[in-house]
Amino acid sequence: MSITTGDFRQRITVQTLAEKKRKHEPIVSLTAYDYATAHLADEAGVDMILVGDSLAQVVLGYDSTLPVTMEEMLHHTRAVRRAVHRSFLVADMPFGSYHTGTRKALENAARFVKESGAEAVKIEGGISRVKLIRRIIEAEIPVVGHIGLTPQSVHRMGGYKVQGKTITAIDELLRDAAALDEAGVAALVLEGIPREVAVRITAEVATPTIGIGAGPDCDGQILVFHDLAGLTFNAPPKFVRRYCNAGELITSAIQSYGADVRSRAFPADEESYHLPRELQHALDPAEPAIQGK
Ligand code: KIV
Repeated sequence: MSITTGDFRQRITVQTLAEKKRKHEPIVSLTAYDYATAHLADEAGVDMILVGDSLAQVVLGYDSTLPVTMEEMLHHTRAVRRAVHRSFLVADMPFGSYHTGTRKALENAARFVKESGAEAVKIEGGISRVKLIRRIIEAEIPVVGHIGLTPQSVHRMGGYKVQGKTITAIDELLRDAAALDEAGVAALVLEGIPREVAVRITAEVATPTIGIGAGPDCDGQILVFHDLAGLTFNAPPKFVRRYCNAGELITSAIQSYGADVRSRAFPADEESYHLPRELQHALDPAEPAIQGK
């Protein structure tokens, strides 16, 4: 029995995302970083797959997103691209790839489309990034915005802290959201902000909002695959819901494998290749045939 869900009639595009907002149909988004998980997410009906720069932490073991490079992001986006046939595929522009000049940023955004098959790039930041985002959109590359708790600004924020907790900070977020909306972003990720602020932004912008730690009223939600699957090793943030404990399952499978190898229960004879009987005999006439034809 298949337990897949979602709408499989068409590929998800920028237009589909906009339509979903108009129809109040929640947008399901998830990160993926490799062929296997992207295949599962695409088959399960995820609308938008993000190759997030969270790759740095959950796959590469860094303690922030800052070290991940363009080459690493491209490498993983290509693997995801090979698995994705329906979802809208977004690649995260890593720290440093759009901070040192418009020309370089445009070249890097184009590399994601040309060399890895991404359909959009994601850029962190509000008004300060709007000029750049307009240029990228003019270059025919859809952009997903990202405001609130923006992990690439960890040093400026002084840690991973919920944003938008004062009237001044809320006004700033509302202005950022309006400016990105006006610039024409394909979607807007709202991360780590109070639910009440996400409600306001979602009501005020035309573009779909995708929440992570922003409450249930956004037009869609996104989670990091490893958080959802229980493949992270620290206590998860409050907004994470673990839908399974793959870590426990995999550990138990590896322990069983180890025990079988140590007790020589693996591999069994049925899991071995055999010579035909005549060849076994020719090889060692004194030994009875082990098994086989
Ligand atoms: O890198 C990432 O995974 C993200 C999501 C948290 C939105 O940016």
